[in-house]
Amino acid sequence: MSCHKKVYITTPIYYVNDIAHIGHAYTTIIADTLARYSRLTGLDTFFLTGTDEHGQKIEHSALARNKTPQEYADEISATFKNLWDDFDISYDKFIRTTDPEHKKGVQKAFSTMFGNGDIYKDVYKGHYCISCETFFPKSQLVDNEFCPDCGKATTIIEEESYFFRLSKYQDRLLAWYNDNENVILPKSKRNEVIRFVEGGLTDLSITRTSFDWGVKLPDNMNDPKHVMYVWLDALMNYVTALGYGDDEEKMDYWSARVHLIGKDILRFHAIYWPAFLMSLGLELPKHIAAHGWWTRDGEKMSKSKGNVVNPKEVADAYGLDNFRYFMLREVPFGGDGDFSQKALIDRINSDLGNDLGNLLNRLIGMSGKYFDGKVESINVEKYYKIELDKTDEHLNNLEPLIFNMQIHRYLEELWRPLSVANKAIDQYQPWNLMKEGKQEEAMALNGLIANILAKVSIMLSPVMPQITTKIADSLSFSIDNNSWQGMINDKNLLDTFVIEKIPPLFPRIEEKLLETPEVEKKKKIEPKKEKKSNSSTTTEDGVAFIGIDQFFQTSLKIGTVVQADEVPKSKKLLLLQVDVGEKENRQVVAGIKEWYSAEDMLSTQVCVVANLKPAKLMGYLSEGMLLAAKDSSGLSLIIPEAPKQNGTNIG
Ligand code: ME8
Ligand code: MG
Repeated sequence: MSCHKKVYITTPIYYVNDIAHIGHAYTTIIADTLARYSRLTGLDTFFLTGTDEHGQKIEHSALARNKTPQEYADEISATFKNLWDDFDISYDKFIRTTDPEHKKGVQKAFSTMFGNGDIYKDVYKGHYCISCETFFPKSQLVDNEFCPDCGKATTIIEEESYFFRLSKYQDRLLAWYNDNENVILPKSKRNEVIRFVEGGLTDLSITRTSFDWGVKLPDNMNDPKHVMYVWLDALMNYVTALGYGDDEEKMDYWSARVHLIGKDILRFHAIYWPAFLMSLGLELPKHIAAHGWWTRDGEKMSKSKGNVVNPKEVADAYGLDNFRYFMLREVPFGGDGDFSQKALIDRINSDLGNDLGNLLNRLIGMSGKYFDGKVESINVEKYYKIELDKTDEHLNNLEPLIFNMQIHRYLEELWRPLSVANKAIDQYQPWNLMKEGKQEEAMALNGLIANILAKVSIMLSPVMPQITTKIADSLSFSIDNNSWQGMINDKNLLDTFVIEKIPPLFPRIEEKLLETPEVEKKKKIEPKKEKKSNSSTTTEDGVAFIGIDQFFQTSLKIGTVVQADEVPKSKKLLLLQVDVGEKENRQVVAGIKEWYSAEDMLSTQVCVVANLKPAKLMGYLSEGMLLAAKDSSGLSLIIPEAPKQNGTNIG
């Protein structure tokens, strides 16, 4: 085995005073994507996430709930971990700052810095709010005097504190930024940091005596009333997770290839952290990448406004991979983004449904019809060299984009081969090739499409791991480092494909799937006025007679349910894909869940009203209706007495 390059990727460790929202999910999903990409290309990868559990804020939150800080931290930390597990986040370690090994590492760092002469004891002087027990910098005070939190007058208080000689590192930091152009990403943020450091750094207070919930100083300091400042404690997680200060077994993953963070905590990562590392004699990170801020419908998310977007709800309603794709594609890295269901739905219907899903459907359709699903690639080069070269050219552009955090550009570039493929079908028209007896050419076209889909799926897999696995299954290959080596790195084609029909991956969404307050205001439904009719044009129970021609205006067909799912959040509806003998399956939203489960429905033959005007139910397009009869004992579907071919007319 060769010696592999090691790649270390981290997220911030999230505070346990709040539960996860889409902002946290965004950071974690980007980091997960990088980690998956890195593993796909054969790099030995370690991906770290976790929770930040000390400090006064958390102590307060716990007390307010009548819990010990540890109980409270255990509880909230678990909600983060569970969410990431639900989301199949591929972290290698979940660190908690209350882990004993972590605390040991922080204490070792303190001792080392103290031993270097980088830590000294002094008094911290500042504006203190007694009622909030917090120091505030003058810049945050209201009218230079009042507490920004509670509005009471602050007093100037002096507190004993240990200081880190941050000022000493000013020049070395500036030299580091200058020598490493890409260390802070995006570049606009780098300039911000440089300007800040050039403005002058003052030494940093790194201990507190006003509260207890933190890492104690090392025993030999003999100063038990001090606890570490949360940011010293928190930043150290990136090395304690690898064993720093303990058995150091994983320290060969250091330094970080990338610390992924939000722009709110850039100064801590781009100034304090490298200065701490310099003091400790540890290597500096390669990239610190700061992304922008997510808002909800244009507003900052906050608990009090009640507009926090719960990532689990979004993923449940729209699909986890669709949500991942949306977040990464919608916003250029570093820019702010606005979460709206409309934008998400547009991405699903257009990029995913039209460009990707449809291409797969077209391949399934034509390979099934002409070649029984068995596709061979031998003549692809002969007929479609130009398309192949274009595809490889686009795929070659991807690698430099990913670790420079141009992930939206990566996805944009990855979509180009899909349009090469879709255009090739339109241009060469396989149905005409077949008519003209050009079987070999038609087969090669199928081979071209299958290979493009396979290559795109490999490169898309870090962003959409679940969906691309389904595509790979349908094309009968697997996505792993081997296929990456062969199809991407060496630009090979896969010789053969056995293409299996699978249900549409991206059913069209017409309407928001998550309730918003506006939707909850239920529209009052006017009772229908009954039309009374006594004329002889009606049957006994008042239904109008019609002629046979009118009856045949209704297209009734036999179909088979090929996929059945529950409609999220609905007690009544099932989402069915029904094969009615047409090129594409019909999507039918049926109000039968109280009597039939999704499992019951799978492979069942049904009678479908096939020419109903499509309608939207809970945001899903319904393109038909099932015949059923309901009486006091419940509902029964009308089904053919013996199996009939799909598409058979009823009447
Ligand atoms: O700062 N949009 O933890 P934290 C985008 N414990 N990203 C967002 C976001 C939003 N609206 N809200 C949060 C801390 N984030 C410290 C970190 S690291 C050594 C210590 C993301 O729970 C973003 O990544 O406040 C941001 O940096 C992070 O959550 C802050 O999480
Ligand atoms: Mg925060």
